[in-house]
Amino acid sequence: MSTAKISFDGKEVDCPLLVGTEAEVGINISAMRDRLGIVTYDPGFLSTAACTSSITYIDGDRGILRYRGYAIEDLTSAKFPAVAFLLIYGHLPSRQELLDWRRKLTLNSYIHEDMLKFFEGFPPLAHPMAILSAMVASLSAYYPDFDKEEDIDLNIVRLLAQAKTIAAYSYKKSIGQPRIYPRTEFSYMANFLRMMFATPAEEYVVSPVVEDALNLLLIVHADHEQNCSTSTVRVVGSSRANLFASVSAGLCALWGPLHGGANQAVIEMLERIQAEGGDYKAFMNRVKTKEVRLMGFGHRVYKSYDPRAKILKEAMDRVLNQLGINDPLVELAKNIEEEALRDSYFIERKLYPNVDFYSGILYRAMGIPTNMFTVMFALGRIPGWIAHWREMHMCQDQRISRPRQIYVGPSLRPAPQFDDEGFTIDGPV
Ligand code: ACO
Repeated sequence: MSTAKISFDGKEVDCPLLVGTEAEVGINISAMRDRLGIVTYDPGFLSTAACTSSITYIDGDRGILRYRGYAIEDLTSAKFPAVAFLLIYGHLPSRQELLDWRRKLTLNSYIHEDMLKFFEGFPPLAHPMAILSAMVASLSAYYPDFDKEEDIDLNIVRLLAQAKTIAAYSYKKSIGQPRIYPRTEFSYMANFLRMMFATPAEEYVVSPVVEDALNLLLIVHADHEQNCSTSTVRVVGSSRANLFASVSAGLCALWGPLHGGANQAVIEMLERIQAEGGDYKAFMNRVKTKEVRLMGFGHRVYKSYDPRAKILKEAMDRVLNQLGINDPLVELAKNIEEEALRDSYFIERKLYPNVDFYSGILYRAMGIPTNMFTVMFALGRIPGWIAHWREMHMCQDQRISRPRQIYVGPSLRPAPQFDDEGFTIDGPV
């Protein structure tokens, strides 16, 4: 079977089927409105594929996540820059490609000196996501040749390299410390950690345990196909908006507490339960009456255990042990998970821990402040956004994203009358 028939009001249209690599089937309904005069209605896109893509595959029922065909579990011993390269260019870098890529990332990690002045304009308590999204959009002012095809690869490097510098500087701004410049002899992760935690008075010695943990966190966050922020990047990029502007929009989408903002919300939730005496069962009852949501649980696609949460839960135990940290939130989080996984409310709705449930405890152990958690997610996700923007940019038959709607407002009203000052003159409504 290569087509599906849709019939309405005595008319019929043959819609071609699209079959993906893993045998998922989509019906191409793009001719439907022309032929039948009707549209589909799917708020939240529960049954809608917005594109084809060869970057990431998820099977939410079986808890499978793959980047460019590689199982996420098999990429955890890689280094983040290599995974970023894989997502963006479709293959793991050769030795020479990786050496060149790392060098480019290091050499391009300084932000334009004029941009440093922007940090002074933000209030001290500005959320780092507000700063990051504004600064990433501003990169297009400093690299205005974004329309030149030959500059796309360079802008990709600039964005990847400078996002971590901006992220660290937004933290330095919030605590009133001087900024630390990146240095060429350090790795991507070590540079970020130094820029966060070194001061001009004292060098920060990067712990290999912390560096490895951060590397893992960024890898598991690196892409997740058509999630809210990636779809935003694609929608904005579909108007041919430049890479920096499109990714800045993705950052804003990520910030929301139902998406990447959930990692911050999870820790705040756990801290609140702890501060109120640790009665997590009472909290779970409030979740079940829908008074509150259990943050870090549930997912649109995963209807089984999120493989990223599994990786991070194991890493949490290992890393906290290696760092000699005993965080009471670990036990609390595990108790909540255990309670949820045997409760019919969660079982019936197929709600499991997602990537955000355990990531915050790891960030805490590394000394990352809570309001930086979503920024950390963003640093991980930037390669994914770039890969999707690039894939769309290279697609020959890509069209501007422009959904339809079902209008439910008033029908035509009588023409209103306005006086000279612009006020409406009372008349029949
Ligand atoms: N706590 C309690 N109940 C939940 C939760 C939760 N975390 N998540 C879903 N439910 C319930 C809903 O109330 C709904 O119940 P109902 O059928 O009785 O109405 C049912 O499960 C289905 O939930 P929806 O909201 O329809 O699921 P949707 O796919 O639209 O939302 C989402 C997914 C936003 C992730 C949701 O599960 C949620 O809000 N989770 C908490 C926030 C969170 O952790 N977000 C991070 C997601 S991962 C990421 O973006 C990186």
